[in-house]
Amino acid sequence: MFQTDLGRADAVLAALEKKRPEVAAHSRRVSAYSVRLAVQFGLARDVIETIRLGALLHDVGKMLTPSRILEKPGRPNAREWQELKAHPELGQEICHRSGFDDEVCTIVLYHHERCDGSGYPDRLAHPVIPYMVRIVSVMDTFDALTSSRDYRERLSVAAARTLIARSAGSKYCPWVVSGLLALPVQMLQPGPGDAPGVIRHPQGPALIPVGGLGEFQLPRPGAALQASLS
Ligand SMILES: [Fe+2]
Repeated sequence: MFQTDLGRADAVLAALEKKRPEVAAHSRRVSAYSVRLAVQFGLARDVIETIRLGALLHDVGKMLTPSRILEKPGRPNAREWQELKAHPELGQEICHRSGFDDEVCTIVLYHHERCDGSGYPDRLAHPVIPYMVRIVSVMDTFDALTSSRDYRERLSVAAARTLIARSAGSKYCPWVVSGLLALPVQMLQPGPGDAPGVIRHPQGPALIPVGGLGEFQLPRPGAALQASLS
């Protein structure tokens, strides 16, 4: 099943790559970071695969966002924000029609929800937001902060982590943020496998450093973390 889904994701990603290469590159990085975090948390293989796919596809709705908005220098105005904010629902529709399962579609639909209910499209709050979504939304934010935007400089890994940590427990799930803070800096850099191309196999070098996680291994999640993630 994984290989079928990966093949399908490759096809969708190829379309995104063609139309929105910068969004596709962002999606690959978010997927790699999310998978690294999921591996560190010791999550099950099928859960990791769902996270990988959901993260790869989370912004696919931006294929339908007008170019004049995505390519506009500077911040979008209020009306443009409304159009931009439609991309999770558009993305969910694309994924649903492409045959991805409900959990993948849920990640796509809710990746801009925030634990304090300030997100969109449905203003869900913790703990209603599924834990897989919470992982992808934190890593989505992390990559956005550490990437260049027309309207601001990219932040360092340390600065981005500090900024996200300030919103732990409000916007972001504190357990996910604790995982982000514990990840070694080397695992928060894009690797060669995060570049455009085929999606890497879970055990491939793009996602797990040569030699495995080794010294990077975090303590196994305790009961409190497991409860938070369930
Ligand atoms: Fe998004």
